[in-house]
Amino acid sequence: MYKVGYFVGSLSSTSVNRILSRALIRLAPDDLQFTEIPIRDLPLYSPDYDADYPPEARALKDAIAASDAVLFVTPEYNRSIPGALKNALDWASRPWGQNSFHHIPAAVTGASIGQIGTAVAQQSLRGVLSFCNARQMTAPEAYIHYTPEVFAPDGEVLVESTATFLRDFMAEFRNYIEMVLTVLPRQ
Ligand code: FNR
Repeated sequence: MYKVGYFVGSLSSTSVNRILSRALIRLAPDDLQFTEIPIRDLPLYSPDYDADYPPEARALKDAIAASDAVLFVTPEYNRSIPGALKNALDWASRPWGQNSFHHIPAAVTGASIGQIGTAVAQQSLRGVLSFCNARQMTAPEAYIHYTPEVFAPDGEVLVESTATFLRDFMAEFRNYIEMVLTVLPRQ
């Protein structure tokens, strides 16, 4: 069993990325166990907090430490990732020398209502994760164009080709996690 902490990059109450996260969890291999890592209540990061992190930020770092891998499901905001998600990444990467993402297996995906499917945001996120030294699954990529005809609100995927694609993505992630942890076991 592998524990996957997942981030939803949107704070929207009607988030299509939250629906995508439900779909991914439904379609994932049985030996992946998912826990959301919340980002909503984090204050804005400042180095002034480094000496004494607030409870929300401690909880964030504890949740990542308790995960075997992390999954990011994010919208694209202005050709990058939402500020709330970047803020969470900044918190997790600090204090200096205590970067929570060091060597953690990670996968990136996201949905947009436009055709581009968060491609630019995902590249932006990959740059951040590279600097944070996460072990990113580089392929397959999953740029998801959300439509209500394909995704039901509970995460059921209504089009079989999309379900197959997402099922394969999660199966690849499961195998990638196993591969990384074989070489780089979590402490
Ligand atoms: C967007 N949206 C958007 N879409 C896109 O494909 N590329 C982009 O750069 C942006 N930029 C952007 C900025 C801001 C501030 C908002 C609010 C929206 C549209 C976006 O994909 C759409 O709102 C999605 O529904 C957002 O995902 P969630 O919040 O529904 O998960």
